[in-house]
Amino acid sequence: MKILISGGAGYIGSHTLRQFLKTDHELCVLDNLSKGSKIAINDLQSIRDFKFFELDLSDFKEVKSLFEREKFDAIVHFAASIEVFESMQDPLKYYMNNTVNTTNLIKTCIETGVNKFIFSSTAATYGEPQTSVVSENSPLAPINPYGKSKLMSEWVLKDANMAHPEFKYCILRYFNVAGACMDFNIGQRYPKATLLIKVAAECAAKKRDKMFIFGDDYDTKDGTCIRDYIHVDDISSAHLAALEYLEEHESDIFNVGYGHGFSVKEVIESMKRVTGVDFKVELAPRRAGDPSVLISDAQKIRTLTSWQPKFDDLDLICKSAYDWEKQC
Ligand SMILES: NC(=O)c1ccc[n+]([C@@H]2O[C@H](COP(=O)([O-])OP(=O)(O)OC[C@H]3O[C@@H](n4cnc5c(N)ncnc54)[C@H](O)[C@@H]3O)[C@@H](O)[C@H]2O)c1
Repeated sequence: MKILISGGAGYIGSHTLRQFLKTDHELCVLDNLSKGSKIAINDLQSIRDFKFFELDLSDFKEVKSLFEREKFDAIVHFAASIEVFESMQDPLKYYMNNTVNTTNLIKTCIETGVNKFIFSSTAATYGEPQTSVVSENSPLAPINPYGKSKLMSEWVLKDANMAHPEFKYCILRYFNVAGACMDFNIGQRYPKATLLIKVAAECAAKKRDKMFIFGDDYDTKDGTCIRDYIHVDDISSAHLAALEYLEEHESDIFNVGYGHGFSVKEVIESMKRVTGVDFKVELAPRRAGDPSVLISDAQKIRTLTSWQPKFDDLDLICKSAYDWEKQC
């Protein structure tokens, strides 16, 4: 298959590209490099060559002409704006980049005969769920423009598929992605990140002098929030499984997580243990909109697709995040 990976220079896109490069698929990458890294692209080109298009998805004319020229069979669509806090300050950026640009991409796929679309969605579409474990059928009620912009893209995909049944999609709702593969220069680069494992890794690597626990009075075993952390290489392999699934099946939606979680305190303890670094942690008030527990019901992807997670180990995830932080 000839596959276009949008956002392939970013964190999850580059890890996925690395795995796809080990298959027989012909690969192309589109990225505007607003957050992605050309170093990652250059590094990955040492596995084998692929075309890289530095292009913004909002350039509809160029995107269309690229699709007409290259005749892709499938798209794996990562490119998006991804910061929840920024989405509350600048919602239109999120609706434009995530919903409008994705809608145009779907339209372009339909117009140029690209019939397989793998979409990066998020657990943020569930908002603050009533249950700690959420299945694909749990109510969708995102509480920020980032989550809403992704849910709207899901709706567009579903409606496009109803009107054009030959156009099939797989929506992957990721839980908390973390860690890095260590053989290429492709970890999480975000400055000012708020993602727990990244922040803890930065503390251990002495890039921050302290971190905060936001609330220790939740109804959990140690009072801190519990999340489902998944290694980026397991998220990446889910895209290969999803593409394979679409060859034989109709469109579908899958949670991608491990189906169990760790508390904030457990993550910090793991980071300190695997790095041998004791860093400063302070208690701060709860943040608005943080559910106490958010864990995926991940049975569906395990049952229906060939996906086999290999890195379900918190210490390993923390160690890889730390090793990346030290080298980048
Ligand atoms: N990181 C997570 O924990 C997480 C969780 C759930 C879902 N997701 C989703 O996964 C996808 C990838 O996330 P990531 O963490 O790798 O983010 P990232 O910022 O590292 O990657 C996104 C990439 O898209 C590119 N991009 C953004 N807008 C573009 C545009 N208009 N045109 C072309 N390229 C553009 C950026 O340059 C970047 O390389 C996103 O869709 C995100 O919503 C991420």
